[in-house]
Amino acid sequence: MTEIHRGLAGVVVDTTTISMVNEQTNSLTYRGYPVQELCANCTFEEVAWLLWHGELPTARELAEFQSVERNRRTLGRTVSGALSRLPADCHPMDVLRTAISYLGADDPTEGLDDRDHNLAKSIDMFAKLPTIVAAEQRRRRGLDPILPDPALGYAENFLQMCIGAVPPAEQVRAFEVSMILYAEHSFNASTFTARVVTSTLSDIYSAVTAAIGALKGPLHGGANEAVMHVLAEIESAGEVEAWLKQALADKRKIMGFGHRVYKNGDSRVPTMTAELRKLTADGTADELMAKYDALAAAMLRDKNIHPNLDYPTGPAYHLMGFDIPIFTPLFMMSRITGWTAHIMEQLESNSLIRPLSSYVGVDQRPVPAGAARL
Ligand code: CMC
Repeated sequence: MTEIHRGLAGVVVDTTTISMVNEQTNSLTYRGYPVQELCANCTFEEVAWLLWHGELPTARELAEFQSVERNRRTLGRTVSGALSRLPADCHPMDVLRTAISYLGADDPTEGLDDRDHNLAKSIDMFAKLPTIVAAEQRRRRGLDPILPDPALGYAENFLQMCIGAVPPAEQVRAFEVSMILYAEHSFNASTFTARVVTSTLSDIYSAVTAAIGALKGPLHGGANEAVMHVLAEIESAGEVEAWLKQALADKRKIMGFGHRVYKNGDSRVPTMTAELRKLTADGTADELMAKYDALAAAMLRDKNIHPNLDYPTGPAYHLMGFDIPIFTPLFMMSRITGWTAHIMEQLESNSLIRPLSSYVGVDQRPVPAGAARL
């Protein structure tokens, strides 16, 4: 009897040097560095460089990278024209999927897929995605886009493009920490999708476009949006018990909880929760946080299931002022670093990814003659 691994659960399909998720110790390292230490000591630009190159940048390398990145933030006419023609009410993840397709179609180096070209394309997407997401956040509110400011770092520039000013330092820091935590997580569904597409020797834009499709789903990146819908659905902390009982009786999955790899808690949650607590220290979100804490406690007690990273990022993004449909695009702005690092790694020692299936349909049979089918 063939052993079936539904969902590829527990299957190790390849090696990687990019990150290590250790479920025994609930830890995550990028290129050997604990992600918590990266959050405490690095900017997101430094982490992006680390994921792509394997080492943290020297001061000179960082300055050169920042200069390139800051010069590539502006969108070309092909892309901005195409995005402006999309239906006003389409989901921002659909906008991003389309945007990456247009960036690929507009790339004069299309077809050149060596590491140097793919790195340049990765930096280009990294630089332009914040411009696209910020414009989309403003478009949803009927506001004109704000041009990127090359004098500002990645996080400050993005937040300024969204709200017209650089917010207080603690908000910038919380946002940057979320970017670092979302950047990479080994062979998750979207990264694996990118590697599958890459393994056919397709191009980097096709791989990223496919990965966006995988990330959009609520069992993956879409969960950070779904968390806010859940917290909005529950009227007060006092309602949590009854709400959860009913939701579990209805066999609902509670968004922001559970993980395929971590069964005793997601290594990234404490760091992001600490940022969320700082954002709510002034007491203005006490009601939201009371529901947040009550649901986490009830899920642990009733199901022994811990929150995943999407649980604290959902409310954190809400408190930073983002609209809910922008949450998964924020995840994508970050994960572009991990995806592209994996695409380049896949190409270094490529093998077509082509698993097998076990056929359980009807036995072979002859096609009936025309008359017999009528
Ligand atoms: N709510 C209720 N029950 C759950 C949940 C949940 N969030 N997660 C797992 N369970 C239960 C599940 O019903 C099953 O119970 P039983 O054995 O009685 O049927 C048991 O736990 C095992 O669940 P599973 O679905 O087999 O576990 P999995 O490893 O396939 O699922 C998961 C992982 C992330 C798909 C799942 O936990 C889930 O659907 N969570 C909600 C969506 C979510 O928050 N996704 C974000 C994932 S982390 C960030 C990211 O990758 O984007």
